[in-house]
Amino acid sequence: MNFKDRLKIALNSELTQEELDKLPRGFQMISKIILLKLLSELYEKRFIIAKKCLELYPKMESVYYYGGKITGQFRIPEKIEFLAGKDNPVVVHKEHKVMYKFDITKIMFSKGNLNERKKLATLVKPGEIIIDMFAGIGYFSLPIGIHSEAKIIYSIELNPVAFEYLKENVKLNHLEFKIIPIFGNCKEKVKELDENGIAADRIIMAVFPAPKDFISSALLCVKDSGTFIHYEGVIEKDNYLEIYDEFDKVAQQNGYQCELIEHRVVKSYGPRLYHIVVDILVNK
Ligand SMILES: C[S@@+](CC[C@H](N)C(=O)[O-])C[C@H]1O[C@@H](n2cnc3c(N)ncnc32)[C@H](O)[C@@H]1O
Repeated sequence: MNFKDRLKIALNSELTQEELDKLPRGFQMISKIILLKLLSELYEKRFIIAKKCLELYPKMESVYYYGGKITGQFRIPEKIEFLAGKDNPVVVHKEHKVMYKFDITKIMFSKGNLNERKKLATLVKPGEIIIDMFAGIGYFSLPIGIHSEAKIIYSIELNPVAFEYLKENVKLNHLEFKIIPIFGNCKEKVKELDENGIAADRIIMAVFPAPKDFISSALLCVKDSGTFIHYEGVIEKDNYLEIYDEFDKVAQQNGYQCELIEHRVVKSYGPRLYHIVVDILVNK
């Protein structure tokens, strides 16, 4: 029996038929936390529903209401509210042999990006120098650190809360010898890396909306032998070339040449919208 049917039976005497029909079909799970998205009509009943979820899933420790939006420059999840069980929003989420520690009320974590987190690490060749410009808590730096033979990863993050978790996660995964967390705005920090003679084999620009204003800075760290740049954006399905063209235009203005190596759909992002990544080889 599916989640919704089980929940409907469990709540039969507490909700009206109309409310029962509006119950969610499933939920997101991070570590031992259930993240419950509810239609606004059910918001008032959130505590009763959460309590039943815990009864149905006794191995889970808590339930939080999840508004479902991630906003602002720091990509912070909006409207997360404790509902039932143990109120401890700090989790250690294990995925693909990587441990990610973070506070679910302060830090986004998209399970839908799992394949991309796995894929990127497979592209890295032994000895690569990598710059992760929007590192967050280590979404990409950590799997690359664990699953590749990268030489060094410079992981830049501007949000102080995310940066503290990034440092903690580097230790938790025993990657101190490979990952260098750098606090600050990546626009300035890549300039400093360039001034210190550091060029990268691979640069990760994983943030929404597509970080066009950061392209010129990223180009400073392109190697004489070429650099792969992972550039993300949100588009309508077939329009991935728009994202590539946007990058290519800025690169050309700065005297660089680009070749589109691959594009991937990371996940669906809304009606007709897709989160995509383009891998671009950039040469001086
Ligand atoms: C949430 S991550 C996105 C990670 C990845 N795209 C994903 O979905 O898994 C983006 C991170 O970039 C950080 N950020 C935003 N602007 C920045 C800047 N100018 N310099 C460094 N970090 C920045 C945010 O604080 C955030 O932690």
